[in-house]
Amino acid sequence: MKKYDVLIIGAGIAGLYAAMNLPKEKKVLVVCKDIPWECNTFYAQGGMVTALNESDIPSHVEDTMAAGSYHNDEKAVEILSKMSLETTADILKRGMEFDVDEEGELLYTKEAAHSTERIIHAGGDATGRYMHYFMMVQNEHQLQRNTLVYDLLIQNGKCFGVKALVNYRAETIYADDVIIASGGVGSLYEYNTNSRTVSADIHGICVEKGIELCDMEMMQFHPTVFVKTPFARKLLLTEALRGEGAHIVSEDGKRFLFDYDERGELASRDIVSRAIFDYKRKTGEEVYLDFSMFEEAWFLKRFPNISRTFEAIGYKFPQDRVPISPAFHYAVGGIKCDVDGCVEGIDGLYVVGEASSTGVHGANRLASNSLLEGVVFAKRVAQHILTKESIEISIPKFDKDYKNIVHHENDEVYKKRLRKIMWDDMGVIRTKKGLLEAKNEIFDMKNRDIGRLLELRLNTASAIVEAALKRKESLGAHYIE
Ligand code: SIN
Repeated sequence: MKKYDVLIIGAGIAGLYAAMNLPKEKKVLVVCKDIPWECNTFYAQGGMVTALNESDIPSHVEDTMAAGSYHNDEKAVEILSKMSLETTADILKRGMEFDVDEEGELLYTKEAAHSTERIIHAGGDATGRYMHYFMMVQNEHQLQRNTLVYDLLIQNGKCFGVKALVNYRAETIYADDVIIASGGVGSLYEYNTNSRTVSADIHGICVEKGIELCDMEMMQFHPTVFVKTPFARKLLLTEALRGEGAHIVSEDGKRFLFDYDERGELASRDIVSRAIFDYKRKTGEEVYLDFSMFEEAWFLKRFPNISRTFEAIGYKFPQDRVPISPAFHYAVGGIKCDVDGCVEGIDGLYVVGEASSTGVHGANRLASNSLLEGVVFAKRVAQHILTKESIEISIPKFDKDYKNIVHHENDEVYKKRLRKIMWDDMGVIRTKKGLLEAKNEIFDMKNRDIGRLLELRLNTASAIVEAALKRKESLGAHYIE
C-alpha cells in the first residue's frame, strides 16, 4: 500500500513551495499530470508582487481590493500583503535570482492597476520559468510525473488519498493530508493562455462530492494575447509591457482605451479586456499592441523571451505591432477554503494557489498577485499541517473505480464543443440567453457516453455557468449584458 504523510497534487509554484516548507523527515509526494514544467507557473511572464516594505502594505491591499471590486476577503488580502515580506525574503535567502540593477538592487516594475512599482521579475520576462526551475531544484521531496488524479478518497468527512492513473495504470495513493495545487480551468476555453494540463479535473471531483466552489463566475481574461496560432495555449504578451509604456491602438493608431477608462492601458485587466472586446465587436477592426516607442536594445534585454518567441513567427520587435485579443487567463474563483487552505468539512484536505478560493482576489485578480498567492498560502498550508494535532483513523475500503472509462473515443469532439461554448457564452461579455444555452448544452453532453475526465470538466463548466446565472448584476470579471 502506498501511503504518505502528505500528498501534493500539482507541481507549480503553490505545490512546490508547500513541499519546500515541509521537512525532509516527512514522507511527502508531489505529483503532476505530465512533465512538471507543464503548469501555469512555468508560463508566467510579468513577475511576482511583493509589498516593498511595511508602509507599502496598505497601498498593496487597497490596489488588490480595488481591482477585485471590493468583493475580496479583506483578511486574506492583508495576510497576502503582510506575508509577502517574509516569503520574498525567504525565497531570496534560498538563492532565487530576480533581476537586479548594476548595483545589485532588485528591479521593480509596474503592471495595470498597481499604484507603484512593486513587481519583481526574473529573466526579464520569464519570471515563472525561473521561479519554477528554482523551486524544482530546491524541493527535496519525491516528485512523480504522469500522475493523473481522477478521484479523491473521501469518507465520513475525511480525505484518505486519491485514485490516479500513474503512467496509464490505475493506482491508489493514500495520505494523511492531501493538498490540491492543481491550478485552474484553462482547457475549458477555446482561447486561453494556460498550460494544456490545466483542465479543472479536481474542481470537477469537488462538484461531484459536494465540496463548495466559490466565485466561479469570476473568470479572468488577459487583454493582450496573440491568438492566431494553431496551438491550444495562446501567446501571452505580459502586462509588464504596458507597465513599461506599450500602447494598445486601433488600426489607425488611436489609443481608444481612454474612451473607456481614464487610466487607459493601465486600467485593471477586466476593464481593458472588455474595452478591446467591445471595440473589436463595434468596429470589426483589429486591435494592436504597439511597442514602437521603445529603444531596441533596451527592449530585447527587458523582454528577451517574448522577442524570441515572436521572431520565430515572423515579428520583429519592437518595430512590429501585434494583433491582440483577450483570452481566458486565470480562474479567480475556485475550491473554497480558509486562509490556511483548509477545505471546510473535509479533514485532511487542503487547497492552494489558483485552484483555491480564499477570497483574496475578490471579483478580479490584480496583476502578478498570483505567484505571490501561491507562495504565501502554500506556506500557511504547510505550517498548518505541521502544527495540527494528528489523529490515526483506519483507512476504509474504496471500491468504486473508473479505470476503464477515463477516456472515451468521442471525448475529443465534445471537449472541442465545450471549449467553444465556454468562449462564446461564458467569455468576456455574457448574456442570460447565452448562459442558458450553455447550461443546456453542457447538460446534454453530460448525458452522453463520455469518459471520466470529460465528465469532470463538464461538472466544473456547469458550476461556472450556474454561478454566472446566479449573479444577476455585473461585478469585476463577471460582466452581464
Ligand atoms: C502577465 O505577465 O501579464 C501575467 C501576470 C499575471 O497573470 O498576473
